[in-house]
Amino acid sequence: MSDDLNLLLSNLNVFYRKLQNYHWNVTGEDFFTVHEKLEEYYNDINEQIDELAEHIISKGYRVFATMKEYLEVSQIKEAESKKIHSDELWKEVLEGFKVLIENCIKIKEEADRENAYTTSSLMDDYLKDYKKKCWMISEVCKEED
Ligand SMILES: [Fe+2]
Repeated sequence: MSDDLNLLLSNLNVFYRKLQNYHWNVTGEDFFTVHEKLEEYYNDINEQIDELAEHIISKGYRVFATMKEYLEVSQIKEAESKKIHSDELWKEVLEGFKVLIENCIKIKEEADRENAYTTSSLMDDYLKDYKKKCWMISEVCKEED
């Protein structure tokens, strides 16, 4: 269980960096909209990072707290430090949220088997959030196809 929780925490940390990178480097006519939306997303993720890390500690597990550990295990990969057009980044953002959803489902299934109620309900919160975001982002991706 602690490995899966730390994997989710690692993905969240790398995704945070990636979203802020896009927030800085996005270009295009819809700059203002995308720039702001990405800030909303990474702020949400920042809160989840703290919440999840404290949850891991409260369970008595060791919590990953270094970039080195996050980068070693993260399934989400960093973006390059360069300008990116808004058309190109949404698919990447969508893929990121899908990775988080997979992590959460695995943790929830494990938590339910172990009657770990608080972990299970925390995953419900995250799943609700990520699935709603995926739906909205997929509407943007459809328009671009
Ligand atoms: Fe900013």
